[in-house]
Amino acid sequence: MCGIIGISSNKSVSVSIINSLKKLEYRGYDSAGIATLFDGEITEVKSEGRVNVLEENFDLKNLKGNIGIGHVRWATHGAPNSINAHPHSSDNVSVVHNGIIENSTILKKYLTSKGHIFKSQTDTEVIVHLITENLKTDELDLAITKTLKQLHGSFALGIIFKDSPNLIVGARRGSPLAVGYGPNENYLGSDSYALKAMTNKITYLDDGEFCIIRNDQVLFFNEDGKKINKKIMELSSDESSYEKGEFKHFMAKEIEEQPTTIKTGIKEYIDKTNLDINIYNFPWKVDEINSITLIGCGTAYHSCLMAKYWFENLTQLDVNIDIASEFRYRKNRFKKDSLYIFVSQSGETADTYAALDLCNRNKMKTCAVVNVIESSIARDSNFVLPIHCGPEIGVASTKAFLGQILILYILALKFGDLRKETNKENYKNKIKGLLNLPSLIEKSLLMDNDIQAISSTFNEAKGSMFLGRGFSYPIALEGALKLKELSYVHAEGYPAGEMKHGPLALIEDGMPVVVLAPRDSYYKKTISNMQEVIARGAKVLLITNKSKDEIISENIWETIEVENTNDDLLPFLLTIPLQKLAYYSALQKGYDIDKPRNLAKSVTVE
Ligand code: M6R
Repeated sequence: MCGIIGISSNKSVSVSIINSLKKLEYRGYDSAGIATLFDGEITEVKSEGRVNVLEENFDLKNLKGNIGIGHVRWATHGAPNSINAHPHSSDNVSVVHNGIIENSTILKKYLTSKGHIFKSQTDTEVIVHLITENLKTDELDLAITKTLKQLHGSFALGIIFKDSPNLIVGARRGSPLAVGYGPNENYLGSDSYALKAMTNKITYLDDGEFCIIRNDQVLFFNEDGKKINKKIMELSSDESSYEKGEFKHFMAKEIEEQPTTIKTGIKEYIDKTNLDINIYNFPWKVDEINSITLIGCGTAYHSCLMAKYWFENLTQLDVNIDIASEFRYRKNRFKKDSLYIFVSQSGETADTYAALDLCNRNKMKTCAVVNVIESSIARDSNFVLPIHCGPEIGVASTKAFLGQILILYILALKFGDLRKETNKENYKNKIKGLLNLPSLIEKSLLMDNDIQAISSTFNEAKGSMFLGRGFSYPIALEGALKLKELSYVHAEGYPAGEMKHGPLALIEDGMPVVVLAPRDSYYKKTISNMQEVIARGAKVLLITNKSKDEIISENIWETIEVENTNDDLLPFLLTIPLQKLAYYSALQKGYDIDKPRNLAKSVTVE
């Protein structure tokens, strides 16, 4: 949440800051701002709305200064207006911040008593005044060390100083921050994506660290202000993944990229010749594990729920799932024979990271299923299984979801085999089945016309429901999340068998209900549940798989048939029409598909 950028150069920085902020907009788009330092003065410009509004409001190309910081905001404290937009500045100090300062009220009281005057409702402004106060008595590095210790909560910071005109300070606790190295200039950014156009040489700050960036030098410090050395890593430079190309939206592109996501996953993890899975280097013995807990947020949580069905079918393990924001505050029973699996596209989600950190502090076995392999969750887990789906820019997760469930399915198969809980022939057959998945997904992607026509009914309705049982239940939740996230239509995912315990009361004449009823072992039960909603007036969109057998129900409004495959893999195919339904609903309404209201891609605050 919130994106920050800083550049120290031997030339003017405002244009590069603007370009980087545009790349960071997926992290927050309530307001945007820049501060540069020129001729001993800090100039701060900021606007409510997106970066293009900032560009329209100010002549940014002529904003002078070889040092500058920029910010795109996802509001936490204070409304999204230009006063609360970052940077926040005193006479001497200007700050951009991603995170939350939990003791801001106490600090504000203290600083007000010292004569500091606050202009905004943000928690960030206390950082500005605290540094300004500490600089009255201490040199810069000491003032920073002292300030960071006084702050409670999470932050990634970029700071410039009128009296130290050639440097930027970056600091990190909880929220990600990267340093980049360029020719005669160095950078600070919330992620490597923001810096990619300028450099592929990156260093990630770890929690508690801060850095001082000049155009020709970067120094790193630990939380006690002692100088430390850090490694520089080189990132791959596949620029095309960061462009929309022929597509109108990143989401459309990312949906279409899903066959490639699956192909890459298969290439990385499957030995096609021997029909085996190439995961050999577990840091623990799998037969020492008796239970696993899968943890994530949002779509990643739905992947965890999906995985529970596979792990339970393919192994004898006890399988638990948890929403990270709940797990982190519960009194968990940590047991030595448990494995904790953290699922995250970004690898930076604050709640998921906090849950991992809790497990690490309790010396648990931890495994990350992530897309961004340089992320905090990847770096701090005992074992990492990357999903290799390339950058996902659209706020709504699509290809990362299929990537996550693929890896979790492969992991469940591997555990079943290593623990001798899946029979060898079954194991090999299931791997063989996986090899056809990319072409089945390609075929499922061809269904645009039907779905476009259907989506208007969802837009016109007061609300909608998505029902499924067994393997289809997590997909129902995911379909509902996509629709509400993108087209702001109320959508509820529910286990079909649970409807009669309350939600059936919501069904009224004409209400659109998506029923996921592939012809798996739950089919007949789900069809009965479908009849119950049809009987109460629901307009049912049935999503099933192709079959020579007729559908055993009448009065269905619309039917979509995905390709046929084995039960384990049907969830992959059922997901595609739901992603498209959400996409086309939002498209019809003219909403900003890649940046839905109130959301951000990487949720780095609690
Ligand atoms: O980066 P993560 O996978 O940890 O993100 C978790 C959720 O914030 C994310 O999946 C969110 O629910 C998506 N916007 C849903 O499309």
